[in-house]
Amino acid sequence: MSFLELNAVRKSYGPVVALDGVDLHVPAGSRTAIVGPSGSGKTTLLRLIAGFEAPDVGRISLGRQQLAQGLQSVPAHQRGIGFVPQEGALFPHLSVADNIGFGLARNAPDRSQRITELMQMVALDPAMLSRRPHELSGGQQQRVALARALALRPRLMLLDEPFSALDTGLRASTRKAVAQLLGAAGITTILVTHDQAEALSFADQVAVMRGGKLVQVGAPNALYLRPVDAATAQFLGETILLPAQLAQGWATCALGVIAVNDSERSGPAQIMLRPEQLQLTPVPTEQLDPDAEACCGVVEDIDFGGALCGLTVRLLDEAQAGTEPLLVRSPAIHIPPLGSTVQITVMGQAHVFANSVTV
Ligand SMILES: Nc1ncnc2c1ncn2[C@@H]1O[C@H](COP(=O)(O)OP(=O)(O)OP(=O)(O)O)[C@@H](O)[C@H]1O
Ligand SMILES: [Mg+2]
Repeated sequence: MSFLELNAVRKSYGPVVALDGVDLHVPAGSRTAIVGPSGSGKTTLLRLIAGFEAPDVGRISLGRQQLAQGLQSVPAHQRGIGFVPQEGALFPHLSVADNIGFGLARNAPDRSQRITELMQMVALDPAMLSRRPHELSGGQQQRVALARALALRPRLMLLDEPFSALDTGLRASTRKAVAQLLGAAGITTILVTHDQAEALSFADQVAVMRGGKLVQVGAPNALYLRPVDAATAQFLGETILLPAQLAQGWATCALGVIAVNDSERSGPAQIMLRPEQLQLTPVPTEQLDPDAEACCGVVEDIDFGGALCGLTVRLLDEAQAGTEPLLVRSPAIHIPPLGSTVQITVMGQAHVFANSVTV
């Protein structure tokens, strides 16, 4: 059952339509990630849920409480919602302890104990409690902002790009720690991020936003493997798009005849593969099977990326001369040498877009 519900929410700033009819259902205790390009309306959506602004049209409810119906709106401080804004927004003149304890009663007997607990929860050394925000790193400031939001034991936590100031390693470990922390406390969470890998690993449900609309909402693996259209596919990760002819669950395309995940569609369509679905096997040129030539290529470039390398492979078949070279992701220990001929095998099925543009 939905805990947070948004129905047909619209918000404009003068001529700019920031949200254009958003419906979103968030189950209790779940983690939802919202991804989308800059300016697509992600922060606006969080600000409306938090109560800093009211929708022009539409309804927002949390549990059994109606938070906003058009311009009628429950004030932010009565919503029980924690918000960690995009720019940490700590009070610069207050110590870390006073920032975290900002919403706690000044004379509460367990105030300082609770502040220390919150510091430990976000993995910060309580020795930093007397520092001012400018004496902390960007990542530490974000964790203080998170502790300040947690102090009020919110029903719902809204995080607007909270890990963006952290380096890759710390980012992954902080994300995991925050996910565990919020999960253990049973706090329903919405995370806004630019980072698609972060969204896919953090969330139970991912919502992709474009131009003020949610274009697709679903489980991370469903969105990654079965995006509604090419733009969503490209937003969620590296994508190979190929024109194809479909018939009975098979596609005839530049890679030969390959299985697709739609047995109903037939005729021309665009299909999608993820680069890690292509496997390369080196073949000496003299052993090339002319019948299999359509699935052979030459390694034109190797981008050494650590665990996974990006290989650019140009198809050998002359009929495919106009086809863009393919990007393949291969484990570093398996990469064929530059200039070598390889056979290309497709693993799993190609995806047919629901909103496919016929090509
Ligand atoms: N207070 C405001 N006044 C006027 N326009 C605004 C205001 N706030 C946001 N906008 C506009 O609304 C649109 C959505 O902005 P929003 O901040 O929600 O985007 P975002 O998806 O969070 O982007 P980013 O990823 O860059 O943070 C943008 O076109 C933005 O310029
Ligand atoms: Mg934003």
